[in-house]
Formats: sequence, C-alpha cells, structure tokens
Amino acid sequence: MSNIRVGMIGYKFMGKAHSNAYRALPMFFPKVTRPQMAVICGRDAVGLEQAREQFGWESAETDWRKLVTRDDIDLIDINAPSDAHKEIAIAAAEAGKHIFCEKPLALNLADSIEMLNAAEKAGVKHMVGFNYRFAPAVQLAKKLVSDGRIGEIYHFRGFFLQDWIVDPQFPLVWRLQKEIAGSGSHGDLGAHVIDMARFLVGEFQEVIGMSETFVKERPLPTAMTGLSAKGDKDAPRGQVTVDDATLFLARFANGALGSIEATRFAPGHRCTNSFEINGSKGSIKFDFERVNELEVYFTDDAADVQGFRRVIATDAPHAYSEAWWPAGHTIGYEHTFTHEMHEFMLALAEDRQPVPNFVDGVECQAVLEAVDKSIAERRWVAISELR
Ligand SMILES: NC(=O)c1ccc[n+]([C@@H]2O[C@H](COP(=O)([O-])OP(=O)(O)OC[C@H]3O[C@@H](n4cnc5c(N)ncnc54)[C@H](O)[C@@H]3O)[C@@H](O)[C@H]2O)c1
Repeated sequence: MSNIRVGMIGYKFMGKAHSNAYRALPMFFPKVTRPQMAVICGRDAVGLEQAREQFGWESAETDWRKLVTRDDIDLIDINAPSDAHKEIAIAAAEAGKHIFCEKPLALNLADSIEMLNAAEKAGVKHMVGFNYRFAPAVQLAKKLVSDGRIGEIYHFRGFFLQDWIVDPQFPLVWRLQKEIAGSGSHGDLGAHVIDMARFLVGEFQEVIGMSETFVKERPLPTAMTGLSAKGDKDAPRGQVTVDDATLFLARFANGALGSIEATRFAPGHRCTNSFEINGSKGSIKFDFERVNELEVYFTDDAADVQGFRRVIATDAPHAYSEAWWPAGHTIGYEHTFTHEMHEFMLALAEDRQPVPNFVDGVECQAVLEAVDKSIAERRWVAISELR
C-alpha cells in the first residue's frame, strides 16, 4: 500500500505527540504503511511554521477547511480542543478522508453520534485517541482478562489523578471552559478511565456520580498550551464552568462493580492513571506512572509465595516488545501514541476499522453523559436511558 498522506490539525501538546508517533513508525514498525507527514495545520502562521520545521512536516496550512478538501491528503488527524472536533470530523468525512480524532470525541453525546454517522455514511476509517490502551502493560491486562486468567470479574477500581490546577491563581485555560472542553476532569481524565474499563471489563449498565468545582473563578490566561499556562493574578477573572473532580459508581452489564474517580485536585499526583481489577482467580493493578509494569496476583499460586508480582510488560513475549529495545530497556508515554498510530496504519492496510474507533468514542460519551445526568438528578441512571 502506498504512503498515507496525513493532514494534522493542532500542533501543541497532542500535535507534538502525534508528530513524534508518525516519525517513529517507519523506524520501529517498518512493515506497516508509512504515514507521510504532509501538512500541519493551525491558525497562527508564525507558530505553525516553527512547529512544521521542528516536527518535520512537509508543508503548512492555516485554514483547516482548505486542508480537509485537498486531493493530496488521505487522513485528517484532529488535535484541536474538543469544541472543534465535530465540525472538522464531519467535513473530513464528507471529503472522503479517514479521520483520527483526539478524545473526548465531542462536546456531548449527540455531537459524537453525528460524527460517527458521518464517518459511517462516508465509508471512511475512523479512530479515537484513547492512547493508554496501547501501553504494553494494559495490553497484558487485556490478555489476562480475555484468557480468563483472573476469572470472573468482580471489581474495576479506576482513578486518574492530577494536580496542575490546585493553585487557585492558575489561569482559566480552555480546559476549564465548558463551551470549549465539554466538561472538566470528567471528560478529560474520566474519559480515559471509562475507556479503560470498557476495554478491560465491558459495557457499563448504570452509574451514579458526584462532582465539584473547588475553585470557581480564575484569572484569564495570557498564554496556554497543553497543561501549562501563564497568567497574572491581578488580571481580570472569569468563571470556571466545568468540574474540578467527578467521581462515580457503576454497575457493568456483566455484573461487575466499578468505582471511578477523576480529579485535578490531588497534590503530588501528576498523571496517576491507575486501575485495579479483582476477579475470582486473581487481581491485576496498573499505574501509568510505572507504565512498563503490571502487578499480578493469582489465587492458585503456592501459598508460601503468594503475593502481587511485578511483571515488566515491555519484555518479550509482550505486545510490541519486538519493535523496541532489548529486555529491561523500557519505554514511555510517547510510545502509546506510536502504538496507536500503528493500529491505524495496520487497519488501513487490512481494510478494517481501527480500534478504538468512533463507536468507542460514542459509548464513552454516553457514560460521561449518564454520569452528568445522575449528578443533576441525584439518582442512578441507566446508560440505555440516553440511547
Ligand atoms: N490522548 C490524550 O491523552 C490527550 C492528552 C491531551 C489532550 N488530549 C486531547 O487533544 C485535544 C487537543 O488538546 P491539546 O492538549 O493538544 O491542546 P493544546 O491547547 O496544547 O493544543 C491545541 C491546538 O489546537 C489548535 N486549535 C485550536 N482551535 C483550533 C481551530 N479552530 N482550528 C485549528 N486549530 C485549532 C491550537 O492552536 C493548538 O495548536 C483535546 O481534544 C484534548 O482533550 C488528549
């Protein structure tokens, strides 16, 4: 198959992570279809040109509308904030382009369904950016669950803890504005945990949640990118319109029980994306800050050596180990994106939908929205109420 010509929109945090993945693919996965880093797109011509040169894109375009209709582009990669996802994805689908879209897929469930429908109608391939699935330790967790090695699943306990806005003077970045981000920690961090739970345990049946916005007003920013921003504490202030923390309980369709927490108010936790699964034959534990490891406990281990064991999931025979380094020479955050883009390139070559795709984006959005509804109405909400 010939190269896939990529047009990428947004060039800051995720734009850099995706660019790095595209660059790494031909070196570490030489057998998959090559992504050609054709066009990078953003609104500020000066910043865009710097990124083009630094990340290694062939050319730059300041208008995404022009980009999505170009004949020399096969795939549109959307790394703009969530309020831009729907319009770009639908325009890309209508122009017959394959689409990668960062998570959360959209601002709300209705928009995400429109995006899925447009992609399906156009017959294009679509993928959503739940990159944590692609950590080898998470792939190992999936294998252990699928092979029945920890038996019937009883519990999924997931939490994603950060601390980058604990300071009340941290500025009002786009992630704290509902009209741009959709929601706060819930859609940003909770979406990853929900996807992890769906990936490892199965579909959610019903949820009940609670949330809080601890700091309700913040100074307006003077500059922002990714999770960092600059501001002046004496600057005019604006309202925080999203949750700082959202927690919920869940019942899965297979009878397992879940508890999920997403917060940006956990001092000392920079990126604690973590889960534990307990089953009838054992347990598994993962913490992204120790990305290469999976802790595993089996009930049938000999009694005198029973306990959690630490498996380095980047050594053979684990997922992706052949592509990288000798045993014990571990990998990191950026590799989750390389593996994610590897899945997309493989799916294009095999003419199938990549996984996770917009269907997973929609299912995640349904859970997010069911939690919001449960908080607003102070009751359990079945996911089926929203579909
Ligand atoms: N998978 C993950 O772990 C992960 C991590 C961070 C962010 N994200 C998601 O990625 C997306 C981008 O987040 P980010 O952290 O990279 O944000 P960012 O603020 O670092 O970068 C956003 C980029 O989008 C550009 N942009 C904004 N509006 C645009 C528009 N209308 N047209 C063209 N470009 C536009 C900005 O100029 C900037 O280059 C969000 O949806 C976010 O939720 C996912």
